[in-house]
Amino acid sequence: MFGCTRYRLPLAVAALLLATAARPAHADSTASEASIEALVARMTIEEKAGQLNLLSSDLTSTGPAAPADLDAAIRKGKVGGVFNVYGAAYAARLQHLAIEHSRLHIPLLLGFDVLHGYKTIFPIPLGQAASWDLEAIAKADRIAATEAAAAGVNWTYAPMVDVARDPRWGRVAEGAGESPWLGARIAEAEVRGLQGEALDRPDTVAACAKHFAAYGAAESGRDYNTVDISERTLREVYLPPFRAAIAAGVPCLMAALNDIDGLPAVANPHLLHDILRGDLHFDGLVTSDYGGVPELVVHGVAASTADAAREALTAGTDVDMQGGSYAKELPKLVASGAIPMAVLDAAVRRVLRLKARLGLFENPLRGVDPGRERRTLLTPDHLAAAADLARESIVLLSNDGHTLPLGPDVHRLAVIGPLADAAYDMMGPWSGAGDKGDVVTLLAGLRRKLGASVQLVTASGGTVERSTASDIADAIGVAKGADAIVLALGERQGMSGEAASRTSLDLPGDQMALVHAVARLGKPTVAILFNGRPLAVPDLVREVPAILEAWFPGTMGGTALADILVGDAEPVGRLPMTFPRSVGQIPIYHEQKATGRPPSADHYTSRYLDESTTPLFPFGWGLSYTEFSFGRPKLDHPSLRAGETVTVAVDVTNTGGRAGTAMVQLYIRDLVASVTRPLRELRGFQRVTLAPGETRTVRLALSADDLAFWRADMTYGTEPGRFLVMTGPNAADTRSVPLDLLP
Ligand code: BGC
Repeated sequence: MFGCTRYRLPLAVAALLLATAARPAHADSTASEASIEALVARMTIEEKAGQLNLLSSDLTSTGPAAPADLDAAIRKGKVGGVFNVYGAAYAARLQHLAIEHSRLHIPLLLGFDVLHGYKTIFPIPLGQAASWDLEAIAKADRIAATEAAAAGVNWTYAPMVDVARDPRWGRVAEGAGESPWLGARIAEAEVRGLQGEALDRPDTVAACAKHFAAYGAAESGRDYNTVDISERTLREVYLPPFRAAIAAGVPCLMAALNDIDGLPAVANPHLLHDILRGDLHFDGLVTSDYGGVPELVVHGVAASTADAAREALTAGTDVDMQGGSYAKELPKLVASGAIPMAVLDAAVRRVLRLKARLGLFENPLRGVDPGRERRTLLTPDHLAAAADLARESIVLLSNDGHTLPLGPDVHRLAVIGPLADAAYDMMGPWSGAGDKGDVVTLLAGLRRKLGASVQLVTASGGTVERSTASDIADAIGVAKGADAIVLALGERQGMSGEAASRTSLDLPGDQMALVHAVARLGKPTVAILFNGRPLAVPDLVREVPAILEAWFPGTMGGTALADILVGDAEPVGRLPMTFPRSVGQIPIYHEQKATGRPPSADHYTSRYLDESTTPLFPFGWGLSYTEFSFGRPKLDHPSLRAGETVTVAVDVTNTGGRAGTAMVQLYIRDLVASVTRPLRELRGFQRVTLAPGETRTVRLALSADDLAFWRADMTYGTEPGRFLVMTGPNAADTRSVPLDLLP
């Protein structure tokens, strides 16, 4: 049976669900709705609760495996979906169990977290965001979906669209950084990439945007912690990427684990009903996060798992991920009248609709077979795209005295540091089914690139966590004879991601001691940072002349870095998150407000006694191997009205000696409004590649809609008045022109 690409359902269900062939689209959805209704009518309460029950596979060293009672539960129709599923053979086995052995033959949702690649691992999402290349990000997700779908996955818990302004929170690695606007553009691109042209194609997966909502605002950056923000901040900062994902057609959202305004998200009717179903018009599926439903007991808002199940389902959480509470409690709760059958049915319909949209009733295996799986993974095209995006994600943080690119006078290169050859770490957190054996490390990338022309000498200098005196002495011994030094520093993979909050944003362990020792040699030295979050490293900036932020760059990271180090590619990445000088500055982000007493030399102003209020590196920061000058922005009209657009033109000149790519960023500021507005908000960006000496005019559109916000009365819209339109190379270096929004 395994290996057939189209599987015919048993007649009863097939007749119900295939009756729609060759009809126009609207008739299709009406017919499929009728089929779903007919199916719901035939289900027992236990089978209905089963559709809302999502269980995890066990993850073993050889891949996923079914826990002891999973098979039996699937046969009994007590499971609607299984996650942590991957691998064609395993996925097909589970699907066969459901469609052949359960009473109603309903296929399974098969879920897996595919955050930045399935087997071909792309840079972590924060790194992808640093590329600001929406097409490349969409392409990465298209490839990730193609690979995952070939391995039997039909549903993924991505994109992670949580805006994040606290780098102590390890999950900043999984998202697009601090800007709601950039986050929204990236969310759209990701949904588009994952879902391709139509969900029922065999190379797509259903996306599930997470974590709804404001998970990134966890107090003190501690994962899963309480969120207490204003309704205005929720709407202005945390919801835009969700709104964008919904507009792009995301069929699923994951409710966050945190409480917000006193109620955990999974049991928060204001969030899941008023805002999500009401204001955001979302009609798709809502799943809990892992164990989120029974955790209501731990939060202290439910006395029992029965209460937890009732509160979560009635608030709008359709699916219970790995909590087991729905399967156990819902039949009793509905039978006793504590939950109306209509509430249960509505959630079941949403699960069945997603299955129908994926084409699972007609084609439950979606063409999955091991041959196709093998042919699809890690193809040369996929690896080339991973190398391209890795190159684009790298940010040149500093480059004193043109230390980079390394010149032809480097004959002996010392590559030092605990992450120089760390294949596993390069994949970063949530690395799908990635295999460290496929990773090109920095050292491997340099070896391939430089061949015999440059002698590479290496030393680890210790581990990420610890360097002994002899580790450092060995490193110095190696570095002494070199013409230039590359230091591979940063975090281990597991130091960011879920449950990986840190109170310090220093380089972990004794890595700074290693840096100090190497820097004393006074040789051309480049530090490469591998990490999942902004780091606070002012000492590093002082000690070494050049720093590249490489994030966790994925399977092809070493190839990309080698290209950048020798100048075969130029750095084009720009920071999607502000880098603080110290943890004490957090949260620090470009959208901060003026306050009544902006920081100045005066004592009674909004500042610190012991630290500057400016960041180490601002949002949007990133150098090139050449230099650019940016002219003043000019508008084609000094004013606009609702519905109109102005064009902002900026001259950019390459003032350096090599060709290079600049990025113009466009920010706005509302000077007087009914509520305080950020000092700058991103509204556009555009790259331009220029020959030495060349000047070009970059044009960006700005519409009246771009000037809208949540007004004092909590309606969304514009207010007439004066704005500043600002352009420049990063958020802290802009020139402005006034723009009037007329009534
Ligand atoms: C994470 C989610 C993830 C889920 C399933 C949870 O622990 O918070 O982001 O999708 O596990 O793996």
